[in-house]
Amino acid sequence: MESKPARVIAIASGKGGVGKSFLTLNLGEALTRMGKRVAILDADFGLANIELLAGSEPDRTISDVLLGTCSIQETFIETPDGLRIIPGCRSNPDIAELSVQHISGLIHAVDELAGEIDYLLIDTSGGLSPTDLHLIRAAGEVLVVVTPDPMAQADAADYISALRSSCGIQHFGVLTNMTRRQREGHTLMEALQERLGFDQDLVLRHCGQVPYDQEMARQSDCSQTLFSDREDSRTARSLQMLAETLNRRRIGYPAPGGMAFFLEQTVSAGGI
Ligand SMILES: Nc1ncnc2c1ncn2[C@@H]1O[C@H](COP(=O)(O)OP(=O)(O)OP(=O)(O)O)[C@@H](O)[C@H]1O
Ligand SMILES: [Mg+2]
Repeated sequence: MESKPARVIAIASGKGGVGKSFLTLNLGEALTRMGKRVAILDADFGLANIELLAGSEPDRTISDVLLGTCSIQETFIETPDGLRIIPGCRSNPDIAELSVQHISGLIHAVDELAGEIDYLLIDTSGGLSPTDLHLIRAAGEVLVVVTPDPMAQADAADYISALRSSCGIQHFGVLTNMTRRQREGHTLMEALQERLGFDQDLVLRHCGQVPYDQEMARQSDCSQTLFSDREDSRTARSLQMLAETLNRRRIGYPAPGGMAFFLEQTVSAGGI
C-alpha cells in the first residue's frame, strides 16, 4: 500500500523567546486532534524544554538515540491526545551543538518513523547555529515566527535573508505571534515584506496570527501551555485555524540540492 510521505516542518525564528516551543506544541496538539499522526522533535539541544511545557520529565532523550542506547520510539513522551514528543537533551554540553555525524545519525533515526507519522514538527533553538541550519535544510518546510516586538521583526527579516542565501530556501511560512490587535498579523507581514525589499523569487506566506494570551502570561505553571484544554479561548481557536491552514497546503517546496529530506526522501526512494 502506498503511504503518503510525512511533512517535516521546522519552526524557527531569528530572535529567541518569540513562542516557537509554545506554538510547536500547540500546533502539534491541534493537528493530532484533527486525526493526524504527529511527532515533535525538540531540537533545542542544550536548553530543551518542550516536554516540560507538555508537563512531563523524560526518561530518555534524543542524546540516548544519538549515543545508540535506545531507539527513537523509546524516547517518545505522549500527550493524552496521542501527540508524540521526542525530547531534546538538557544540560549536556557535549551535545549542545551537533556534529555532522550526529546530524546524519539523527536523520537516520527519524527515518525509522517513516510510515508511522504524518507530520514531524521540529522546534529549533532559534538563530543560525550550524545544527539549526542543517535541520532546516533537511526539513523542507520552514515556518518563521515573528512578534510585534521591533527587534523580533528586524531579526526575522535578517534571518529570512540569511536562510535564503545560505540554504537557498525561497518559500517561507510566517506565523505572527503575541498580536494585540485584530489585523496586526497582516500589518507585520507588510512590514516584513518591506524590510526584505523586492525579490521576485522570495515567497512569504502568512499562515496564521496567534493573539497575546494574558491568562497564559499570568500563569507560572508551564503545563498550562497546552491549549487543548481551553478550546473556547481565542488563542485556542487561532491555533486550530493555523493547523487547518497548514494541513490544507504545503509551505512552498523543498530547497533544491539540500541534504536528505528526512522521511520524504526515504519514502520517495521506496524506503517503506
Ligand atoms: N501567544 C502568546 N501569548 C502569551 N504568551 C506567550 C505566547 N506565545 C508564547 N508566550 C510565552 O512566551 C514565552 C516564550 O515562549 P517560548 O518558550 O515558546 O519561546 P521560544 O521561541 O521557544 O524561546 P527560545 O528561543 O528560548 O526557545 C513563554 O513564557 C510562553 O509561554
Ligand atoms: Mg523554545
